[in-house]
Amino acid sequence: MSETLTLRRPDDWHLHLRDGAMLAAVLPETARHFARAIIMPNLVPPVVRGVDAAAYRDRIMAALPEGMAFEPLMTLYLTEDTDSDDVAAAHARGLVKAVKLYPAGATTNSASGVANFDKVRGVLERMADIGLPLCVHGEVTDADIDIFDREAVFIDRVLDPIRQNTPGLRVVMEHITTSVAADYVRSASENLGATITTHHLVINRNHILAGGIKPHYYCLPVAKRETHRLALVAAATSGDSRFFLGTDSAPHTDANKLLPCGCAGCFTATNTVSILAEVFERADALDRLEAFTSLNGPAFYRLPVNADSITLTKGHPVSYPKKIATGDGNVTVFDPGFDLHWHVA
Ligand code: NCD
Ligand code: ZN
Repeated sequence: MSETLTLRRPDDWHLHLRDGAMLAAVLPETARHFARAIIMPNLVPPVVRGVDAAAYRDRIMAALPEGMAFEPLMTLYLTEDTDSDDVAAAHARGLVKAVKLYPAGATTNSASGVANFDKVRGVLERMADIGLPLCVHGEVTDADIDIFDREAVFIDRVLDPIRQNTPGLRVVMEHITTSVAADYVRSASENLGATITTHHLVINRNHILAGGIKPHYYCLPVAKRETHRLALVAAATSGDSRFFLGTDSAPHTDANKLLPCGCAGCFTATNTVSILAEVFERADALDRLEAFTSLNGPAFYRLPVNADSITLTKGHPVSYPKKIATGDGNVTVFDPGFDLHWHVA
């Protein structure tokens, strides 16, 4: 008899869907396995106001193929000019599930992000009052801070002061990449969670840099040394409800990845579930996969868990496309570097 594993249908608590032709091509890759996703607002121009989020949600639903079910959980892009009344209204009508903080210049399309954190204090206090979570890209952008240290420095200089100054603010540290971040999340008794991506459970910085430069493994925050990858695997597979899946699946065309100054992002929507099953099996923690993919995230966001489930069956190596064709060009699917054996029915 073949081995099977049934999971409550997963959600993705950090996803980039883009817009237009790219949206149409990548949305089915997520909707095939995931019921819901927190949709990142870093479009050009960014999704700043409630009306922008409503319009983007409509474009996502219009791009969803017939017969597929998917619920986009919308976010607003925090700027120094964000209007707290607009945020509160979008939350009150159930449209928006989080606000995203990008330090200005930290990553793809973050130019409109926050440079002076004092300027968003009023919005953050309002969010604390109404219980609306803040999703944080946790990296400082100072040129004099080594890129491998930017997450740890952000915790000391920005995140911890924000949390101390805004009691009750619920924060998700997005795509954590270090043991420092995992320990910081564990040190908080409440109001702090973290997403962990699929690719950061698989690659370390050698995958990007050793034996030739591999642009398809380049993302932000950049993957760190192996000890940090192991710390992320330990956190994800621990069952600790503060850690949950946010794939950060971030499609860029090959043309935009393979450049002298290539874009940051790994596209993992297509094979994430099979990769995670492999990672959790290797950690002898398959019984905790469902908590990571399907239970801990809804608990943090105070949403019901999904009613239906998916079934994985172990067998011969899974075949999946190496590239997804989009109207803008091909997007390369993340290559974990090992065979996958868990097929999603
Ligand atoms: C993301 C993107 O391409 O939008 N890139 C990435 O490397 N993760 C932005 C982000 O989440 O940092
Ligand atoms: Zn992201």
